[in-house]
Amino acid sequence: MTATPAESATPAESVKIAPSILSADFAHLGADVDRVAPASDMLHVDVMDGHFVPVITLGGPVVKSLRKHTPLFLDCHLMVDNPAVLFDDFADAGADRCIVHIELGDPRPLFDGLRDRGMGVGLTLNPPTPVESVLPFLAEIDLLLVMSVNPGWGGQSFIPEVLDKVRVVRQEIDAHGYDCEIEIDGGINVTTAVDAAAAGCDILVAGSAIFKADDPVAAANDIRAAAEAARTAAKGTS
Ligand code: DX5
Ligand code: ZN
Repeated sequence: MTATPAESATPAESVKIAPSILSADFAHLGADVDRVAPASDMLHVDVMDGHFVPVITLGGPVVKSLRKHTPLFLDCHLMVDNPAVLFDDFADAGADRCIVHIELGDPRPLFDGLRDRGMGVGLTLNPPTPVESVLPFLAEIDLLLVMSVNPGWGGQSFIPEVLDKVRVVRQEIDAHGYDCEIEIDGGINVTTAVDAAAAGCDILVAGSAIFKADDPVAAANDIRAAAEAARTAAKGTS
């Protein structure tokens, strides 16, 4: 594994921002990454295979090019039917973490495959999937990603009902002291970020709200500031 250390734009306790490169211009990917980097804690890399979701996006070669271009932590969201076949390629390319879907079945062999290759472990669930399906794994993973849209496309509307799942997971993690961050992905903007942070999210993925903005850094910083304020307020009332 050749990943370089993560660079963080914010202190450890802050809400983290993960721009999703799905909304970047792939013909100018390096330039687009450079534009958002000053306000980014990591990059969210959406990998789609045309089977798990109808869309095909990118794979190891693009991760490898990103790795050479940026020291940012590369968080790879694998929306694919058979993630295990990608692990060697992604580890060699320099992926820092891979996120796999619970809808595929028992994730433990996938966790082992990621750990064996030195990558971080993330688990995610789609909006219709019950939160109970991921609770048994919170002690074993670095990240639980709550999907707030059905995966496949950027620019969809946030599904607020998933916040109930965030609250349940937040309570479980805090009650047991698990070392697991909560991320949310889909429809995050300066408004929905408030609710997501108040519910207990640590990391906010945002694609179109950042890359389609006239000033991506300002957009990311606005989302972070709104989330920070909501998180502080929520902690004050809990
Ligand atoms: C959807 C992807 C998301 C997407 C989010 O399948 O997993 O990461 O890029 O895009 P926005 O922020 O535009 O909803
Ligand atoms: Zn994603």
